[in-house]
Amino acid sequence: MPATVVIGGQWGDEGKGRIVDLLARDMSVIARYSAGNNAGHTIINSQGLFALHIVPAGIFYRDKVCIVGNGVAVDPQVLLEEIGSLEARDVSTERLMVSDRAHVVMPYHPLIDQLDEQLRGAAAVGTTGRGIGPCFADKVSRLGIRMGDLCDPKAFRERLSFVLPYKNAVLTRLYDAEPLPFDDIYEAYSEMAGRLAPRVTDTSVVARDALARGENILLEGAQGALLDLDGGTYDYVTSSVPSSTSAGAAIGMGIGPADITKVMGVYKAYMTRVGNGPMPTELDNEEGQILRIQGPRPEVGTTTGRPRRTGWFDAVASSYSAQINSVTSIAITRLDVLDPFPSIQVCTAYAIDGKTVSTPPASIGAFNRAVPVYEELPGWQAESTGARRFDELPENAQRYVKRLGQLIGRPIEIVSVGPEREQVIIVDHAL
Ligand code: GDP
Ligand code: IMO
Ligand code: MG
Repeated sequence: MPATVVIGGQWGDEGKGRIVDLLARDMSVIARYSAGNNAGHTIINSQGLFALHIVPAGIFYRDKVCIVGNGVAVDPQVLLEEIGSLEARDVSTERLMVSDRAHVVMPYHPLIDQLDEQLRGAAAVGTTGRGIGPCFADKVSRLGIRMGDLCDPKAFRERLSFVLPYKNAVLTRLYDAEPLPFDDIYEAYSEMAGRLAPRVTDTSVVARDALARGENILLEGAQGALLDLDGGTYDYVTSSVPSSTSAGAAIGMGIGPADITKVMGVYKAYMTRVGNGPMPTELDNEEGQILRIQGPRPEVGTTTGRPRRTGWFDAVASSYSAQINSVTSIAITRLDVLDPFPSIQVCTAYAIDGKTVSTPPASIGAFNRAVPVYEELPGWQAESTGARRFDELPENAQRYVKRLGQLIGRPIEIVSVGPEREQVIIVDHAL
C-alpha cells in the first residue's frame, strides 16, 4: 500500500484532517499536495484542538516526516505563524519540509483576490480571500515565485524585479489600487525566507525514496471534489493547480500516479458548503439550522469563521465524486449530527427542466434549477457518539450508513461519530 490519498468528496470540510490524523499512524510520510491556507483542517487530540492551514495533519506524530509538497501555494507568513503556534504548544515541527517547487503567496495575491471579488459583484465566488486563486493563476501564467527562488537572495531579487511591475500595473490600472513597494516586500520576504530555508528542499525525492523503501505515504487532500476547477461547480470553485482531486495528488507530490493504490473519500453524513454557488439540497429552514448547530463542533468555517450552508446528503454529487477520484473506500463523518432527526432525506437524483438526471450538470444555470429527488429514511433519535463498533450504532443509523455506501457505490471503512480521536468506528467488513 505505497501511497494513500485522502480526498474530500463534497464541498470541503468533510473532516479530512481528522481522518488523516487517524490514518497517519501507519504512515512514514504525510504530505499536503495542493491548495494553500484557504484550507482549514481541524484535529482534536490529547494536546487539545488544532486548526491547521498549511502544515499536514501528521505533524502530531513525532516520528513522521511531514511535507508541504510542490503543488501547495505557500504563504510564508502564515506558515511561520503556524509553525510558531505549534511549537508554542509543544508540537515539534522539526521534521516538516517544504518543497522548493511550491509557489509562494505574495502580498499582492490576497489583495488581488479581494479586489477581484469586489469587481465580480453579485457573481462573487465567496473566496476565502487568502490569495490562493491569484497565486495559482500566476503559476499558470508563468509569473510565479517559488520557494526555491525565495530562498536564493539573488534569484528572488531578479524574479521580484520581473514580476512586481506586472502586478503593480494590474493593481493600479485594473483595480485603481496603490502599487506595492519593491524594497519593503524584498526585505520582509527575504527575512522570512531565511527562517524557512532549512526546511526547503526537493521533497519529491524524499517521497520517492520512502516509496522505494516500501514505506507508506499519505497524501492529504484539501477542499473537495465539488470545488475542483474541472470536476466542480465551475465557476464557484477553488483555483488549485494541481487539482485537489486524487488525480492531482501525484503531480502535487512529485511521484507517479501508479504509486497511488488507495483513495479514501471523506464524506459528511449530510452536505455543507462555504461560499457561493449551487447546492441543490440546501435547507434554508429549521432542519438546516439543526444541522448547523447540532453537536460539539457547529458548522462554522475553520478558515474564515463563516457559517456553513447545510443540507441533506446529495448522492448524485457524492457518487460522482467517488468516480472522478477513483475512491476505493469511504469515511463517513459527523454521523452524530443526525442523531436528533425523526426522519432523514437523501437526494438520489435531480429533476432539471422536467428530466431526471443522476449525474451533475456542467452548467451552473441547470445546477441552480436542479430539484432534488428524495428518498426518505427513518432517523434513530438516539446517541451515536458512544459507538465504537458498527453494531453498537442505533439500528437505523446502521441502515442509513449502509444506504450511503450503496448510493456512493464504494465500501465504507470508517464511520466517525464525534470530533475526538477515539470517536470512530473502523468497519472490519465491507459495507
Ligand atoms: P476538513 O477541512 O475536511 O479537515 O474539515 P474541517 O476541520 O474544516 O471541518 C470538520 C469539522 O467537523 C471540524 O470541526 C471537526 O472537529 C469536526 N468533526 C470531524 N469529525 C466529526 C464527527 O464525526 N462528528 C462531529 N460532531 N464533528 C466532527
Ligand atoms: P478544506 O481543505 C471549504 C471555498 C471557498 C469558496 C471557494 C473559492 O478546509 O476543506 P478560494 O479561497 O479557494 O479561492 O475560495 O472555495 N473553499 C473551501 N470551502 N473548505 C475548504 O478547504 C475550502 N477552500 C476553499 O469558501 O467558496
Ligand atoms: Mg476545512
